[in-house]
Amino acid sequence: MEIMFIPWESVEAKMLLQKCVVVLICVSLFWKIIRYMCDLLKVEKEPITILITGQIGYALVPMIARGAMLGPDQPVILHMLDIEPAAESLKGVKMELVDAAFPLLKADVVEACKDVNIAVMVGGFPRKEGMERKDVMSKNVSIYKAQASALEQHAARDCKVLVVANPANTNALILKEYAPSIPEKNITCLTRLDHNRALGQISEKLNVHVGDVKNVIIWGNHSSTQYPDVNHATIATGNGETPVRQAVNDDNWLNNEFISVVQQRGAAIIKARKLSSALSAASSACDHIRDWVLGTPKGTWVSMGVYSDGSYGIQSGLIYSFPVTCEKGEWKIVQGLKIDEFSREKMDNTAQELIEEKSLAKSCLT
Ligand code: LMR
Repeated sequence: MEIMFIPWESVEAKMLLQKCVVVLICVSLFWKIIRYMCDLLKVEKEPITILITGQIGYALVPMIARGAMLGPDQPVILHMLDIEPAAESLKGVKMELVDAAFPLLKADVVEACKDVNIAVMVGGFPRKEGMERKDVMSKNVSIYKAQASALEQHAARDCKVLVVANPANTNALILKEYAPSIPEKNITCLTRLDHNRALGQISEKLNVHVGDVKNVIIWGNHSSTQYPDVNHATIATGNGETPVRQAVNDDNWLNNEFISVVQQRGAAIIKARKLSSALSAASSACDHIRDWVLGTPKGTWVSMGVYSDGSYGIQSGLIYSFPVTCEKGEWKIVQGLKIDEFSREKMDNTAQELIEEKSLAKSCLT
């Protein structure tokens, strides 16, 4: 038998090394077990049911299904509703949704309005080239009266409604009338599209990233009388924030061309595409709901058409676009902004158009 002599230091070193390896293996095993347990215990969020009506739904649905509206871990159930002639094409959209294999999408085949948590009302008679929103009023008020009644009967009591179809503010008002059990603060219309358009125009003018521009305001109606206001808007620079008016340094452009480009953008798109905006409308509808549900970033406001409470001297009882901040699923009108004479006139002008639309809508319904 041969006995080898191993020096004491070397035995110590080997044992230490062995101990380290054992400890590392234990830690890694322990970590794997913890992760496995977490996966087993992971509670999936309850799905949110979203109703989408109308033709921009085709652009909107993939954005929602990818998590652009409610976040990447929020399962959704989509209910899609369209007018009878579109029923066949809706079947095609349903097939495509299955084929796209969106992991957040849960299948459901109940009636369109049943237990809906969020309703994006895009459906309506579309505006064609050369038509003003008022021209489509009589066709749309009856559609909205019917859809409001369906929501009233079947939707979740705290359902959040976004009206996109034109005349969006007045359609939202009709919906409010005929779905009285949905709280008025839950009925809104889309002016985020105009808000984003205003941000886009400023970013192009200044050649800055659109994400560095914030706090423009769309006041009033989603129509050619809306007032895109940059008096409180800023751009982020290396040294903090600079007022947009100062950065642009061209009041003539801001008070004229900028305003009319934003006001007429929808009509310009219809002229070019022979169809109304779909991609940007869908994307801004996602922005509207996302900020409403998940909150606006600190120090930033957005524009939403909401039920007027008399803020800024705007007659209550209109759905009017205001600057709002959102937190915990609730919007709040930004208060205390200074309004100059130029703005006052434009804000009142668009309010006046809404008052007229409201009485026209009422007359269409009687
Ligand atoms: C838009 O602004 O692009 C849409 O509301 C379409 C329209 O009718 O103006």
